[in-house]
Amino acid sequence: MADAHPRIPRRLVAAVPGWTTSADVVVVGSGIAGLTTALRLRQRVDRVLLVTKTVLNEGSTQWAQGGIAAALDPGDSPAEHLHDTLVAGCGLCDVGAVTALVHEGPERVRELVALGAEFDLDAEGELKLTREGGHRRDRIAHAGGDATGREISRALIAALHRVKDDPGIEVIEHALVVDLLQDDRSRVCGVTLHVIGEGQMDGVGAALSRAVVLATGGLGQVYSATTNPPVATGDGMAAALRAGAVLADVEFVQFHPTVLWLGAGSSGQQPLISEAVRGEGAFLVDRDGVRFMKGLHPLADLAPRDVVSRAIVDRMRELGEDHVFLDARHLGRAFLEERFPSIVARCRELGFDPATDLLPVAPAQHYASGGVRTDLHGRSCLDGLYACGEVSCTGVHGANRLASNSLLEGLVFAHRIADDISARLAAGELPQGTPVATEQTLPSAVAELVPLDEGGVDRAGDGVALLDGSARVQVQAAMTRGSGAVRSAESLAAAAESLTALAAAATSTEPSPDSWETTNLLHVGQVLTLAAALREETRGGHVRTDYPEQVDPRWRVRTILGRRPDGTVGHTFEPVAAQDLL
Ligand code: SIN
Repeated sequence: MADAHPRIPRRLVAAVPGWTTSADVVVVGSGIAGLTTALRLRQRVDRVLLVTKTVLNEGSTQWAQGGIAAALDPGDSPAEHLHDTLVAGCGLCDVGAVTALVHEGPERVRELVALGAEFDLDAEGELKLTREGGHRRDRIAHAGGDATGREISRALIAALHRVKDDPGIEVIEHALVVDLLQDDRSRVCGVTLHVIGEGQMDGVGAALSRAVVLATGGLGQVYSATTNPPVATGDGMAAALRAGAVLADVEFVQFHPTVLWLGAGSSGQQPLISEAVRGEGAFLVDRDGVRFMKGLHPLADLAPRDVVSRAIVDRMRELGEDHVFLDARHLGRAFLEERFPSIVARCRELGFDPATDLLPVAPAQHYASGGVRTDLHGRSCLDGLYACGEVSCTGVHGANRLASNSLLEGLVFAHRIADDISARLAAGELPQGTPVATEQTLPSAVAELVPLDEGGVDRAGDGVALLDGSARVQVQAAMTRGSGAVRSAESLAAAAESLTALAAAATSTEPSPDSWETTNLLHVGQVLTLAAALREETRGGHVRTDYPEQVDPRWRVRTILGRRPDGTVGHTFEPVAAQDLL
């Protein structure tokens, strides 16, 4: 494989910070993970700074349709939710992380209701619960029919506005975090960020803090077509990688089976048709009307997402087509309009009526199951750096995230992180560090990836050129062709070669949000492609045509990647204990 271990610079080229601010904790991102962390921390520490790349409600949370999964029904139990999550994760979940998720989840959802989130209720005033792929119980709470994320985001932002005059919490919008600041022991002590503003906080600045929480969401824009919003450019994962944090499971990218197909070449954020539509009885058919999920899996159209996506890709290939169809017509106009108002409206805007038309659908990128590796308190391997939500890898998702577990993960781990940081601050464990220009020592998790004769001296350093924003489509095309829904050694080598060539051709591009984002996409694309090339099997969201055998027991390992001091990316594999569930 070409350039098996890509080189990643220590930091992005950026102006020297022209201004400085400080806080106890900087939280980066304003989806469910970032907002919940900031609000909970605010009750416990003196000063929290929340920074977000555009405006508060632009992230992926806003777009979540289906809902939030939790064992809220008296007939359900955390043990059953645990079981379904482990099965969907294809043997690679961290059982401790999933146990925390499913046991703490119900209480966290009730707290969200108490905070003001208005979920859909039944005639008795109880939460209405529905089902999605991989769940054997109705356990998905939803709001506004299919606008769950929008309602959760609204409620959390309203709670933030209620404390907006509080000097202990500050929000900076239009603030792209460029890199992490570190002290002479590699401890994270703040961020550099670019603010599109006027007055004191304009251009590149430094926000010093005793802890940083990355809640920056996903990386969907590394592909040509995704359900993710334009802000999902992998910034947090890329910054953590450059700083020396280790990543896990990044090869496991979830492709959502039912994304409205808008024609070949359609790119950017694509319209999602929630799995909840199948949860209410819609089903997939091919162009001949054949229900191809029947008999393929005991849960048929509601099999876990990776199973359904793979079946669609196989059927499309057999028929030489680029889409299949979702049939929701039998659900009836009145039900569809009441239960899925946003989806119906969007489909109609685009010329399809779910009440009368078959909907053309095909898989598109939806979720990064891996990310910055964390423990059960959201701590990364770099002291002072935490990660929460899609940017993180707690191990909750394994090789394939169970539907509607993502909002829950953000919520549950935001609480854990806020509690951990406030306890450590109170114990004096997170002193404010002084940023230095180069890392002096290695965190042990990275040291394990490399021979220590490197001496810990940063030799790859600064000065590596940024990619011009115009290269973004080339990164996306290389990733989609080579590291997309279906991969092989050949396709991955071609992707790695294209990305290396793009990096090599980079010239002295002016630093700008566009060039920083595009370079972040390059770095994330390079490590994802490396991880996908290393894993020689098909499992969950990782499909290899040259290794079609599914869930090969020799690969019951987690792929760990990190940037070595010479700038190359190193890897190791970490065994995962057998789970007797599959
Ligand atoms: C969906 O509504 O199908 C998406 C929900 C999720 O990604 O968990």
